[in-house]
Amino acid sequence: MTTPLIEVSGIGKSYGSVIALREVSTVVNAGEVTCVLGDNGAGKSTLIKILAGVHQHDTGEFLVDGEPVRFDSPRAALDRGIATVYQDLAVVPLMSVWRNFFLGSEPTIGFGPLRMLDRRTGRETTKRALSEMGIDLRDVEQPVGTLSGGERQCVAIARAVHFGAKVLILDEPTAALGVKQAGVVLKYVAQARDRGLGVVLITHNPHHAYPVADRFLLLKRGAPLGHHEKSEIDIGELTRQMAGGAELEALEHELHGGETT
Ligand SMILES: Nc1ncnc2c1ncn2[C@@H]1O[C@H](COP(=O)(O)OP(=O)(O)OP(=O)(O)O)[C@@H](O)[C@H]1O
Ligand SMILES: [Mg+2]
Repeated sequence: MTTPLIEVSGIGKSYGSVIALREVSTVVNAGEVTCVLGDNGAGKSTLIKILAGVHQHDTGEFLVDGEPVRFDSPRAALDRGIATVYQDLAVVPLMSVWRNFFLGSEPTIGFGPLRMLDRRTGRETTKRALSEMGIDLRDVEQPVGTLSGGERQCVAIARAVHFGAKVLILDEPTAALGVKQAGVVLKYVAQARDRGLGVVLITHNPHHAYPVADRFLLLKRGAPLGHHEKSEIDIGELTRQMAGGAELEALEHELHGGETT
């Protein structure tokens, strides 16, 4: 067996007196998608913030390539190949697509005081990286603010792939999207996976998770509710567990006016 890219075991985190996460374990393998599911406040963002170096765990173990780590900044996580795309996306809306693509690591020509932005290389590299992912933008000079939410997510995914990420973390990339755009984003998630990245996908929606995921970590109020390989669970059971199983059945019964179906 190959070493997982990321392995967490029994991980826990408190914010003061609030226990946001306890005893959570999962793995992220190259070429696979680990999906984190749970309701509001379940601890999903807390978990990925630990993986991304924004917060640190209080208990348990966090291994990257088999080595225990504790990142003191997002930069440290990025240096280990862990790239995170947040829901609100760190983009500058009025800046062009290609400048956003490089954001801080733009190609330059010349040296010392004569160094300047290499716009042509920047534009061409961005266009090529996007088209390799199957994203066809008319003009990479257009402001990022003019792209749809789905297209922005796609640019962010292509960016992580281009800059050599090994692990791609996506916090609710489909939450604000319509059905069609969500489908497009999921297609790029699958492409990143097929290129050998390990993907961590966070979502509320079992229908978005199921087609692309290899395993599911279900969280509820910070604790693991279940951890399943895809072969062990179907979409119906996943939805049922997420909704709280018996609680949902009671609700359905009520909504159907007490009739049995
Ligand atoms: N910085 C913080 N300080 C204090 N409490 C926090 C902090 N961040 C999160 N929490 C608490 O930790 C718990 C888990 O929050 P978290 O953001 O991880 O949930 P989530 O699953 O991402 O929810 P959502 O689906 O709403 O994004 C919540 O009870 C939340 O109020
Ligand atoms: Mg969250």
